[in-house]
Amino acid sequence: MIAAQPHYPVMLPEVMAALSPQAGELFIDGTFGNGGYSKAILEADDVSLIAIDRDPNVAPRVSDYAARYGSRFEFFAGAFSDMAEAVGDRKVDGIVLDIGVSSMQLDQAVRGFSFQKDGPLDMRMAQSGPSAADAVAHLSHGDLAKIFQVYGEERRAKRCADFIVRAREVEPIITTAQLADLMAQALGKSGKINPATRVFQALRIFVNDELGELYRALLAAEAVLAPGGRLVVVAFHSLEDRIVKSYLRRRAGETKGQSRYMPEVEDTGPAASFTLPGRSALTASKAELSANVRSRSAKLRRAIRTDAAPWPVRDESLLPRAPSLASLAKVMS
Ligand SMILES: C[S@@+](CC[C@H](N)C(=O)[O-])C[C@H]1O[C@@H](n2cnc3c(N)ncnc32)[C@H](O)[C@@H]1O
Repeated sequence: MIAAQPHYPVMLPEVMAALSPQAGELFIDGTFGNGGYSKAILEADDVSLIAIDRDPNVAPRVSDYAARYGSRFEFFAGAFSDMAEAVGDRKVDGIVLDIGVSSMQLDQAVRGFSFQKDGPLDMRMAQSGPSAADAVAHLSHGDLAKIFQVYGEERRAKRCADFIVRAREVEPIITTAQLADLMAQALGKSGKINPATRVFQALRIFVNDELGELYRALLAAEAVLAPGGRLVVVAFHSLEDRIVKSYLRRRAGETKGQSRYMPEVEDTGPAASFTLPGRSALTASKAELSANVRSRSAKLRRAIRTDAAPWPVRDESLLPRAPSLASLAKVMS
């Protein structure tokens, strides 16, 4: 169910300015959540919108919007990387992705995303597939350490994995409080940041294949956007933003790699499939920063589709190398 605590749509004025909805156009809100962006798009003009979310808990809000907006609103229950399936043979004039978890997901202890609230160690947005508890129970020490290092940017990743592997021999780690306590023992408490922050982030990214989803969504967006179509992505940590930035710069004909994970591409590639109206990311306004903590780490990137063909798929190097969900499925089978 949608929780009492609503989700505040981050950087909404900037998102709407970049999408610039015009009557008759078709939009995708790939991260429906509490419907903040969808509502603003549907009310900006006489447009149609396909909303996507993989969390079944958004159902009440979806029914509400279906009743309110009629045939202008469609909902696709699934991953945003599958947006082409939702679109069929139509072309899309604008796509927005607001990456990550919603306040409703974070606030509900039962979803297991938060180290501040005790609940089952779950973290699955789609409420299906392997959970964070499965990852912690079944992955090898090496895989856990790599996941914490790469997805959590945790400097003491091996130590975190040591503590988990020793503790799980005594009893299964199945609650968020158990894992948070274990990380406090492993890392000690210093400073303002909870010691479990990075390990929780890493597990969430792993369990939901968040970076793979983002990369495949960028490919899908390139395929479904009409010439002149606008792509807007709001990301909340550097791993995500780096993928968006590098992908769009490459597709705009700029070839430099952005990090150690992203080697330079040697050739100049096909004709640019996107143009970039602004080279740097937009951040939240001062007013929003003081009103909404979540906006502090938001980075908005925008791009406009050209009429060139989509590039052949060959940018796996944009993804950091770390164990995949398939490796967990293998050890669990
Ligand atoms: C940050 S919230 C979006 C909030 C929304 N913009 C609003 O204004 O209410 C992200 C939502 O996207 C969903 N989500 C995240 N990754 C997804 C994916 N790969 N496919 C589909 N939905 C996804 C989550 O379940 C969550 O509901």
